[in-house]
Amino acid sequence: MKEQIERIRAEFQKALAGADTPEALDQLRVQFLGRKGKVQQLLRGLGQLPPEQRPEVGRLVNALRDQVQQALKEKKASLKPAVPREWLDLTLPGRKPPVGKKHPLTQVLDEIKAFFVQRGFTVADGPEVETDYYNFEALNIPRNHPARDMQDTLYITQDIVLRTHTSPVQIRVMESQQPPVRIIAPGRVYRRDTPDASHSPFFHQVEGLCVDRGVSFGDLKAIISEFARELFGEDIHVRFRPSFFPFTEPSLEYDFNCVFCRGKGCRVCKQTGWMEISGAGMVDPNVFKAVGYDPDIYTGYAFGMGVDRIAMLKFGIDDIRLFFENDLRFLNQF
Ligand code: DAH
Repeated sequence: MKEQIERIRAEFQKALAGADTPEALDQLRVQFLGRKGKVQQLLRGLGQLPPEQRPEVGRLVNALRDQVQQALKEKKASLKPAVPREWLDLTLPGRKPPVGKKHPLTQVLDEIKAFFVQRGFTVADGPEVETDYYNFEALNIPRNHPARDMQDTLYITQDIVLRTHTSPVQIRVMESQQPPVRIIAPGRVYRRDTPDASHSPFFHQVEGLCVDRGVSFGDLKAIISEFARELFGEDIHVRFRPSFFPFTEPSLEYDFNCVFCRGKGCRVCKQTGWMEISGAGMVDPNVFKAVGYDPDIYTGYAFGMGVDRIAMLKFGIDDIRLFFENDLRFLNQF
């Protein structure tokens, strides 16, 4: 019987060495410790031994059972850290993270910037919280002048406003450099307006300014016409209408052919064939004086444009508020 015990011990050790999965260890446990297992058979065999041998052989069988139990437990623990195969299937296709997109306003702004940068303009920047001086005074809009009513202003204090237009960047740039100047200034502007399909308390403008010796009204008309064609197509014409802005003289407003009917007249343009874009003009000598440029030497043109409005035309969007609600169902379409 002792020989039998040793044989089973050897058999177990050999089997254990070859078992390297949890399943194989489980099989071994059934094979050796199960109800019909080899150790159990040994225990049953004890009954046939002479009584005086039973205690000693019984101890040996129990020792074998403990050893098998212990060895199985240790081996199982040693297998655990190994990664089960089904954890990592390298043949699966990867999961794609959703890819973001540029906001439609940013896309249009990029196009506008590219147009002017190609023509020698640089991009300038200014604060959105602006002083009365830059937003109005230096632009030839004195306090208590009726021209202040052209824009509904959000005042922070008597002297500090949320800028109502990007024109103050003109002043900041001219104060910091001598002519020639050729800049555009894109940015957010604020007005005291109740939001509706065509109004938002904040929106975006691009300011343009070109100052040098001999800059003419013709240069202004040419660059705006070229801009219209580049952005909307060769068949889009520009209409210039006389207007008034305190910081330009003469001043004009400019319209593009309606991009939906290409000038024929439709519901969107109220049958006129035209869409208002913004204002422009030749820089007023008073503005040059405010920044210390000599108006007898230099001339310049300036223009504004509404980025939101251009984006609405470009993409056929009929409500400006959609730009600011950040609804992904809207944004994903561009
Ligand atoms: N600042 C004007 C506005 O917000 C737009 C504008 C008009 C800008 C004429 C200009 C300009 O530079 O010359 O309504």
